[in-house]
Amino acid sequence: MKLDKMPVLKIGNLTVDIPIIQGGMAVGISLAGLASAVASTGGVGVIGTAGIGMMEPDFDSHYKKANQKALRKELKKAREATDGIIGVNIMVALTDFIEMLNIAVEERVDLVLMGAGLPLKGMEGLIPAYPGENKPKIIPIVSSARAARLIFTHWQKSYHYIPDAIVLEGPLAGGHLGFKREQIYNSDFTLEKMLPETISVIKPFEEIFKKKVPVIVAGGIYSGGDIFHFFQLGAQGVQMATRFVATEECDASEEFKQTYINCKKEDMIIIDSPVGLPGRAIKNEFLEDVFLGNRKPFKCSWKCLKTCDFKRAPYCIASALTHAQRGYFKEGFAFAGANAYRIKKVITVNELMATLKNEYLHAANKFYCY
Ligand SMILES: Cc1cc2nc3c(=O)[nH]c(=O)nc-3n(C[C@H](O)[C@H](O)[C@H](O)COP(=O)(O)O)c2cc1C
Repeated sequence: MKLDKMPVLKIGNLTVDIPIIQGGMAVGISLAGLASAVASTGGVGVIGTAGIGMMEPDFDSHYKKANQKALRKELKKAREATDGIIGVNIMVALTDFIEMLNIAVEERVDLVLMGAGLPLKGMEGLIPAYPGENKPKIIPIVSSARAARLIFTHWQKSYHYIPDAIVLEGPLAGGHLGFKREQIYNSDFTLEKMLPETISVIKPFEEIFKKKVPVIVAGGIYSGGDIFHFFQLGAQGVQMATRFVATEECDASEEFKQTYINCKKEDMIIIDSPVGLPGRAIKNEFLEDVFLGNRKPFKCSWKCLKTCDFKRAPYCIASALTHAQRGYFKEGFAFAGANAYRIKKVITVNELMATLKNEYLHAANKFYCY
């Protein structure tokens, strides 16, 4: 019998028809436009919240308020555009992490993904047993089985609750990476190695809480064949970001998308971000200049990241990413996953989702025929 559908992804009582979550991309790369397009195809569309207020006139003077206003606006726009599943990505390292979480709950997003740090404290507002209705599904993003264990153990003790799903992000992802530089190309830290470890860490918690917690993998997943490969290893969903940048609906400028189309394998580099983590980006003159030790002095009006030592940082990451989003690469650079150089053209979200689905079915049917 031939398969004609991808398996659905179940997160509690939420069913995702196409088990693909579009990864949240900060500073204006995934807003309502991209998120609603993905959600309309049956996947999960995710709005990146870091620096989301960049288009608001008071972003410089009232950073937090501007972010909150912009998040509400983008969620409204996304809801008007689709009935599909919409999530938000909120980085734990943001100084307005809890405020943005509260907005997400108030606006009744379907799910909240939390990365760039371990979400341990201040989770009360998200947990269904605490006051409030229609809580979003809660999905931490981790880079190791150890981090998953820390979160689950802490939540069990503090909240008598465990996350609804978990994203395991490997070292081939774009943006900030939860690895030390020396771990990035070490075979002990591949998704293939970490996925079974993470599934076994979560299993006892699933039994205690009588709840299924799907593991969703991310980082370097490029084709439907890759999705099938990880499903064979026990993943129940994937989170993909890089491929969604080169879509018509992506909220970045054309110039940003073109850096993806034009980059080569040797342009994919690891940088030390002012956030205090390594990050994967596309090499350009701005980054070469920073690498040579040339500082880009700045006055910090935002204090957006808990971990940024802005007095010593060689440049302002929020400002560099904002410039890049707008296509001004003299003062910025693009984050991208390890496989960005394989992308050759900008297509629609519909075309991308259909291609991924066909490739998945092709791989699955080939596998089950033999
Ligand atoms: C341009 C860009 C911006 C990103 N911004 C964020 C972010 O704000 N928060 C986050 O948790 N992950 C962020 N990521 C990581 C993605 O959400 C995703 O998990 C990862 O890139 C998946 O790997 P892939 O890009 O190879 O598919 C970003 C990735 C890219 C390429």
